[in-house]
Amino acid sequence: MEYTVMLPAAGSGRRMGAGENKLFLPLAEKPILVRTLSVFQQDPDCAGIILAVRPDERDRIRGMLECHGITKITAMPDGGGERQDSVRACVRAFGAAGGADDAVVMVHDAARPFLSRRVIRELAETAAGHGAAIAAVPSKDTVKQVTDGVVEATPDRSTVWLVQTPQAFRAGLLAEAEEKAFADGFLGTDESMLVERLGHPVRVVESTYDNLKMTTKVDLAIGEALLKRQEETE
Ligand code: CTP
Ligand code: MG
Repeated sequence: MEYTVMLPAAGSGRRMGAGENKLFLPLAEKPILVRTLSVFQQDPDCAGIILAVRPDERDRIRGMLECHGITKITAMPDGGGERQDSVRACVRAFGAAGGADDAVVMVHDAARPFLSRRVIRELAETAAGHGAAIAAVPSKDTVKQVTDGVVEATPDRSTVWLVQTPQAFRAGLLAEAEEKAFADGFLGTDESMLVERLGHPVRVVESTYDNLKMTTKVDLAIGEALLKRQEETE
C-alpha cells in the first residue's frame, strides 16, 4: 500500500542536552536523521517524504540529503514552535501539492530510527481500510495515574498500550483533525488525539519495543546496542 510519510524534524532536542538538534547526533557514525530517512528511502511503498525543518538548519539538512542519497523528499516546509505545528506544516504542504484526500499518509518522529517495515505495512493497510491506525506496544509495567505525588488510579494493565509513531491516516481525515485542533487552540501530544476528538475510531497496530525515540543520552546508548545486535544477526 503506497503512502507518503511526514517527518517532523524541527525540534531542538532540549532533553538530549547536546547543544544542537539531537537529530544531527551520530548513531554508529550516521546521523539519527539520516537513519530514519533511509528507512523510507529504501521502502518501495513510500511515494514521498515531507520533512519539516528549522529554517536555520535547512542548508545543513539539504547537504546531508545529498551526501546520503536521500532523493524522495517532495517538500521541506518550515517547522513551528511545537511538534504539532511542524506536523500541520507537513499536512498543509501535502494539500498544497494536490495530495488526494483518500491517499494514505503517516506521521513519524524523525527521532525514531528503529521502526520496522512490517509495522509500516500494517499501518498503511489498516489506515486505508479504516481511516486511522497507530503503532503501539502493550505496557510491560503497571501504570498509575498520580496527582501531587499520590496515586489516584491504576488502569487495568491489559488495557494499557504505550503509543509510538508512525501514526497513519487517510489524508483528508488527518487534515480535518489538524485544522480543527488549530481552530480550537487544542494542543495534543500525538496525531491520534486530534483524530479521536473528531469521534473517529483509531485502530492499534502492535509494534516492537525497539522502536525507541532518541530522547535522552540513555536512548543513544541503547540505540548503539540495538545496531550492534542487528549487525551480528545480519
Ligand atoms: N519536532 C518538530 N518541531 C518541534 C518539536 C519537535 O518537528 N517544534 C520533532 C523533533 O525534531 C522530533 C519529533 O518532533 O523528531 C519528536 O519530538 P521530541 O522527541 O520531543 O524532540 P525535540 O522536541 O527535539 O526534543 P525535546 O522535547 O527534548 O526538546
Ligand atoms: Mg519535544
